[in-house]
Amino acid sequence: MDLRPAQPSDLPDIARLHEANWRRDYVDFLPAVALGAALHADMAGVWGVDALNVRRVFVARQGDALLGFAATLGEDPQGGTFLDSMHVAPSARAQGIGRALMSAVAVLAVPGPLSLEVLCANTDARRIYRRWGGQEGAEFDDEILGYIVPAVTVRWDDTVRLVDRLSGCAP
Ligand SMILES: CC(C)(COP(=O)(O)OP(=O)(O)OC[C@H]1O[C@@H](n2cnc3c(N)ncnc32)[C@H](O)[C@@H]1OP(=O)(O)O)[C@@H](O)C(=O)NCCC(=O)NCCS
Repeated sequence: MDLRPAQPSDLPDIARLHEANWRRDYVDFLPAVALGAALHADMAGVWGVDALNVRRVFVARQGDALLGFAATLGEDPQGGTFLDSMHVAPSARAQGIGRALMSAVAVLAVPGPLSLEVLCANTDARRIYRRWGGQEGAEFDDEILGYIVPAVTVRWDDTVRLVDRLSGCAP
């Protein structure tokens, strides 16, 4: 596997994986109507030509195949790095790719904090973030594709410790 910063030529594959994952993994979290044309239009906007000017993105690739990506957005409102999205292709999951992507993001965030938002119903991802030492905040109403969905913020204040934990150097 090759893990590296994304290049403009990666953007179409990233958009396809992001959209396909939402359609598959968020089917129980969002109304079906939101996961059709509205989702496609949203992803086209997010992953347009200037996407890499506003996001720092890592990709995990094997040959021609995009296995996963993680995208951070500058700073969260309270300072620190905000992990905007992290997705691994279904056939590549549970093989350590998410962990490798998170390691790259955590290194980028040092020495400041790292945070992300996850839908409350996304219990698999929440379990993974908990395993990595993420601290959940209070539940809030997120607006996604025009729909209100309960979500939580997950935060790592000590990203040095997160890097150590992900590299197996800390429990
Ligand atoms: C969340 C996601 C990015 C994780 O990627 P992944 O490559 O499958 O993750 P890894 O293989 O690195 O596994 C991460 C950890 O979770 C564990 N794990 C993997 N799948 C798990 C599952 N379904 N339930 C519980 N634990 C799981 C692994 O053992 C591993 O633990 P460790 O790092 O302590 O050893 C991926 O599942 C995904 O793309 N999900 C759909 C999109 C999504 O929900 N993204 C997050 C939005 S906030």
